[in-house]
Amino acid sequence: MEQAMEIGAITAMLHTRLLRKHIERWMEVDSTNAALSRSAAGGCEEGAVLIADAQRAGRGRLGKSWISPPGVNLYLSVLLRPQVKATEARLLTLIGSLAIVEVLDTYGVQSQAKWPNDVLVADKKIAGVLAEVQLRNGHIEQLILGVGVNLNMDRPTMDRVFGEAAAGATSLYEALQHPIDRDLFAAQFLERLEYHYLTFLEKGRACVREQWCARSFLGCRVSVKEEDMHVEGIALDLDDAGCLITLLDDGSTVHVREGEVVPLHQ
Ligand code: BTN
Repeated sequence: MEQAMEIGAITAMLHTRLLRKHIERWMEVDSTNAALSRSAAGGCEEGAVLIADAQRAGRGRLGKSWISPPGVNLYLSVLLRPQVKATEARLLTLIGSLAIVEVLDTYGVQSQAKWPNDVLVADKKIAGVLAEVQLRNGHIEQLILGVGVNLNMDRPTMDRVFGEAAAGATSLYEALQHPIDRDLFAAQFLERLEYHYLTFLEKGRACVREQWCARSFLGCRVSVKEEDMHVEGIALDLDDAGCLITLLDDGSTVHVREGEVVPLHQ
């Protein structure tokens, strides 16, 4: 990792109790998830937050990479050690996209959570969440929740930096046409994330699940790709394990665990 940066601006804005004790900010890392995982192996405490200005090897879901240019976006990972069963993991990770949707609300930007962990604005991806879980004896030992949010990239920059993927991407700058304070966005995100995390632990998953469902694309027609399966249907609901229940045209349902889901507009 290279040179740490000032974190005072972020902590000064935080009213959190867990996500404030150990916040590090680096100019550049390979991946904030990977770096935090190394710190966790060294015994780093729950609630640790790692933010980087740039990532050399940002990671996305399903083995994809997350292009992470310097100076423009948010790349942030949080270490959690929830005392919950492994079967809760998928539902718990919904707090990441739910928190982002709620922060975007405060900017007056309407967004939608897309299962499992994306956030869309006007059908384009503005943010993604990568949840990396370590299990032990049927329980979660450690969860690293990493979020990447496109904040200050204008359209020409996205076209240049993201290449082909730019067509499906957007940024908060693109939505608002003015620069975004990344420290403020990070602080707002941590506040909402902590709120939903503590709610999940104190009140159980139902509350988080209900709020996520209300902000997602349930009821829409979707295309689903998972391993060899490629089907279309209506995104119905989440099951108790957090899998997406999809109603196919023949009346049967599939429970999607790890796939790629695309909303279809008809
Ligand atoms: C996805 O949509 O596929 C998930 C993208 C997650 C990207 C973030 S950026 C911060 C954290 N560190 C990583 O290497 N990945 C996540």
